[in-house]
Amino acid sequence: MKEAIIRILKENEEEFISGQEISNKLNVSRTAIWKYIKLLKEEGYNIDSVSRKGYRLLSSPDIVTYEEIKPFLNTKNIGKKIIHFDSINSTNIKGKALADNGEEEGVVVIAEEQTGGKGRLGRNWVSPKGKGIWMSIILRPNIDPMDATKITQIAAASVYTGLEEIGIESHIKWPNDIVLNGKKICGILTEMSGEMIKINYLVVGIGINANIDYNDFPKEVREKATSIKEELGKEVSRKQIIGNILNNFEKLYNEFLEKGNIESSIKICRDRSILIGKKIKIISKGKEIERLAVDITDTGELIVKDNLGEITKIISGEVSV
Ligand code: BTN
Repeated sequence: MKEAIIRILKENEEEFISGQEISNKLNVSRTAIWKYIKLLKEEGYNIDSVSRKGYRLLSSPDIVTYEEIKPFLNTKNIGKKIIHFDSINSTNIKGKALADNGEEEGVVVIAEEQTGGKGRLGRNWVSPKGKGIWMSIILRPNIDPMDATKITQIAAASVYTGLEEIGIESHIKWPNDIVLNGKKICGILTEMSGEMIKINYLVVGIGINANIDYNDFPKEVREKATSIKEELGKEVSRKQIIGNILNNFEKLYNEFLEKGNIESSIKICRDRSILIGKKIKIISKGKEIERLAVDITDTGELIVKDNLGEITKIISGEVSV
């Protein structure tokens, strides 16, 4: 009901609409409308109420609900249902629980704050309230589980393009980070439930440090992590970035499902790679080795070369420049 009222107020932005008219449209009592308006005000919607004129929306809060993201969204399926939480342990954990209960492909879980945000390799992911994008996309692709890592490349390409569309030129650090001015602003954590030959579902978790302040980061990550706000010196619109990312994700994901390749995503990951042409450190099975990053294959593996010129392909791993 709240969503429906916001929609009506937004359709009539700058104009008054009477409580009676809203109640007629939604088929509920005027008292119920009044109660919902009160709730919306508490959520931060600035609504002017004048007797005999009705209600007028003056401004919306900076929250990332479906109603707020919708104006930026042009997808058919991805993000058509957004489950929004003010505070949650982790959108990936919630996404997996929802998927276990049958939630469908394309559903997106978004939180204003995560109290137990998960990074890769068991790390924590700092997720302060209202300052970042903490979201997880539920997918049920009919693909070989071996191909699941390709979804991370699709997500990385979508985040890059979503940011580029608002003039932010970032780079992709294979396989799952986005960096701005050399520091990490986004991490992707793709989790899978399935068997050897069949995927039940995937949950693609995307964390973006949008408007985080320097002091929000724990001291130990300050050297490597940053936020878009810190780098640009101004706040960015989380709603618009989410919309852009989901639009791009749907396009690239559909290309994969329809054509069976991730050509467009890989082109983006290659062109914007921060690794290619550089000496990198690869941490694998507790060992650190140095290689030259040469290219990314059409299927998303990183091609590296050792001092003797021997070429290897890496499927996944922890790398640093
Ligand atoms: C990384 O270590 O780089 C991956 C970080 C992934 C963080 C995101 S935030 C939304 C989703 N929910 C989580 O708990 N983690 C992912």
